[in-house]
Amino acid sequence: AVERTLSIIKPDAVAKNVIGEIYSRFESNGLKIIAARMLHLSQADAEGFYAVHRNRPFFNDLVKFMISGPVMIQVLEGEDAIRKNRELMGATDPKQAGKGTIRADFADSIDANAVHGSDAVETAAVEIAYYFPEFNIYSR
Ligand code: CMP
Repeated sequence: AVERTLSIIKPDAVAKNVIGEIYSRFESNGLKIIAARMLHLSQADAEGFYAVHRNRPFFNDLVKFMISGPVMIQVLEGEDAIRKNRELMGATDPKQAGKGTIRADFADSIDANAVHGSDAVETAAVEIAYYFPEFNIYSR
């Protein structure tokens, strides 16, 4: 089915100047960018976005990293977009990420792991709504 997923290019990858390279991978794999914005997240933004992880031991480091510089946030649309984006990203820990994936090529650590992508249809809907009202999404 045609799906939408939320993608974030994290501060490490923005600092490396690889937004365009990552966008090319989305586009050449059938994922269309239908909304985008660059933001320097506040602590409250990052804590709210990652609220499901608030009791995990890595939560504070994750939030600190996500507010360390600007991020590029986009909605991707396409057939099977959630799974496809996760395939393109590779495993959360770049040491486990497959060859040719975004994280294998651009990530340095499990925190500075270049990209975020929604993991399921329900979380994608919540994550998209967190950053984009429907009228700022341009689907075909
Ligand atoms: P992301 O897909 O943005 O979702 C939560 C983030 O927490 C994850 O990517 C990682 O960058 C970070 N993180 C740090 N440690 C862990 C861990 N042990 N398991 C999962 N995510 C982690």
